[in-house]
Amino acid sequence: MVYQADKNRYETMQYNRCGRSGLKLPAVSLGLWHNFGGVDTLENSRAMLYRAFDLGITHFDLANNYGPPPGSAEETFGQILKDDFLSYRDEIVISTKAGYLMWDGPYGEWGSRKYLMASLEQSLKRMGMDYVDIFYSHRLDPDTPLEETMGALASAVKQGKALYAGISNYPAKETAQAADILKSMGVPCLIHQAKYSMLNRWIEDDLLDTLEDKQMGCIVFSPLAQGLLTNKYLDHIPENSRAAKPHGFLQTNVITDQLRQQLNSLQEIATQRGQSLAQMALAWSMRDKRVTSVLIGASSVGQIEDNVAILDNMEFEKEELNRIEKILK
Ligand SMILES: NC(=O)c1ccc[n+]([C@@H]2O[C@H](COP(=O)([O-])OP(=O)(O)OC[C@H]3O[C@@H](n4cnc5c(N)ncnc54)[C@H](OP(=O)(O)O)[C@@H]3O)[C@@H](O)[C@H]2O)c1
Repeated sequence: MVYQADKNRYETMQYNRCGRSGLKLPAVSLGLWHNFGGVDTLENSRAMLYRAFDLGITHFDLANNYGPPPGSAEETFGQILKDDFLSYRDEIVISTKAGYLMWDGPYGEWGSRKYLMASLEQSLKRMGMDYVDIFYSHRLDPDTPLEETMGALASAVKQGKALYAGISNYPAKETAQAADILKSMGVPCLIHQAKYSMLNRWIEDDLLDTLEDKQMGCIVFSPLAQGLLTNKYLDHIPENSRAAKPHGFLQTNVITDQLRQQLNSLQEIATQRGQSLAQMALAWSMRDKRVTSVLIGASSVGQIEDNVAILDNMEFEKEELNRIEKILK
């Protein structure tokens, strides 16, 4: 049966302007790092994409290397797009990235023009698309001049292969430099994609100030710390969880007794707020209005529904924030 998107899909989602651009992103975006690869079930991936879109999630985030195997998440997305989503293409913001190891030899990773332009071509082919909405440099290359990496992003935009340019995992200083270089090339830097959660707060030091100064948006990834900030690992490691999977990126050794104690204390506050721990953690990571969107991952439709329901309760009392601070110290 052909997929028909829910008529009410724009009724509850909140859309936030990305920096000073014309582009709005949903408060909750969906990433395809895990659970959309060749090792996963196509039907589950498809069901998650449908449900996400029906709930107003208009932004799907990919990268050349997502899988496993690398490239297969783009292939899965391309397949579903072709089967069911193509008629909605203009309602969807699709991003991809290049920076991590993708193929053998000196041109298969980092930030050279040679690598970035070839990788974008490959990504477009895998997804069966003419353009992506956002093309990111996935990580700073310490050995390639920033002018070259930004030049490749600007070329991608000028050639119409990407509508916007973004950077990910860049420290604040290099973010400011990248934004200035791109601006001098006539292409604004739309967005920074940065890791951020209750368990990793590096962007609070100076990145958010830099993004505000450069009028860029901020999309935060792994806001649930890959599932740690949920009720999942409170007393054991469940089967089929990311920590239990051989190809997952979540290492079991991070789940210490001390972390479990913190999670249980956070869970108490979440319960008092009438939320799941996951919902509270997501709402918390958007408490600074400079955060445009939280970029979640999911392994089931139910998790996406649970996470989108944060929109019902995004506000925090000062006293709740103080209690959370004490636990995170
Ligand atoms: N730019 C970068 O360098 C970079 C790096 C990493 C990620 N990202 C992007 O960020 C996206 C999200 O990253 P992430 O997957 O680490 O995000 P996350 O939201 O922190 O973790 C997602 C995992 O948390 C669990 N989960 C989600 N909702 C839940 C709920 N309501 N209840 C219980 N468990 C729940 C699931 O784990 P189970 O699978 O165990 O069920 C899910 O796979 C990626 O897909 C990618 O697009 C970017």
